[in-house]
Amino acid sequence: MQVIIVGDKEEMGRRAAALIAEQMRRKPHFVLGLATGSTPLPLYQELVRLNKAGELDFSTTITFNLDEYVGLPPTHDQSYRRFMNVNLFDHININKAATHVPDGMAADPEAFCEAYEAMIDDVGGIDCQVLGIGSNGHIAFNEPGSSLASRTRVVGLTESTIKDNSRFFARMEDVPTRAISMGIGTILEAERIVMLAYGANKAEAVAKALEGPVTVSVPASALQMHDQVAWIVVADAATKLRLEWGR
Ligand code: F6R
Repeated sequence: MQVIIVGDKEEMGRRAAALIAEQMRRKPHFVLGLATGSTPLPLYQELVRLNKAGELDFSTTITFNLDEYVGLPPTHDQSYRRFMNVNLFDHININKAATHVPDGMAADPEAFCEAYEAMIDDVGGIDCQVLGIGSNGHIAFNEPGSSLASRTRVVGLTESTIKDNSRFFARMEDVPTRAISMGIGTILEAERIVMLAYGANKAEAVAKALEGPVTVSVPASALQMHDQVAWIVVADAATKLRLEWGR
């Protein structure tokens, strides 16, 4: 594994964008796996900057997002589809029809999950998957206890996640209790993985994922089984690492 320790989240974004841009320039119809949350925002800002500067073309890029809440329409301000439009897709020359976010409104979510996997296969798999890590070591909505071989599926959200999310919704009954998430097995099939992390609240999870045992208790530890992973970690999230990574 490659571990790059950087000074701040802007540098994390620039390093990640440079890695991805270099791969994208070598392969037309590049298949990029994307994440939501606060972690990839510096990366998305840099990708937008490169696109606007004419240095990176997205016209033939295909994207697949990791996850979406079940029951939220794409227009809902908390939906991950809207997050992606607002933070990336609306600002680059990508063909929106080639951007895929799981459909939280699918009539049959289980059938949708199978179809999502088939869509990824049909385009030849994901060339590079961007990930963030949860403070409990989760990746996508694969919480501790998820099978390391799991596929795209409907998952129940933990009580603490439902409670955390309730502040974004007017009524408790509107807070999603389920999500569609790519599985850990699905993620591990990506050709390359770029994992990003910043913030002291991630330090424990980063150390366990990189230096602890591979275990369902820390879903991100499964990345140890993949030989093309670049971790780009801001120093404040790298304080608990003990090995001589990238120093
Ligand atoms: C989002 C996702 C999540 C986040 C993780 C970190 O698509 O897959 O696993 O990457 O929860 O969230 P932030 O970046 O908000 O700290």
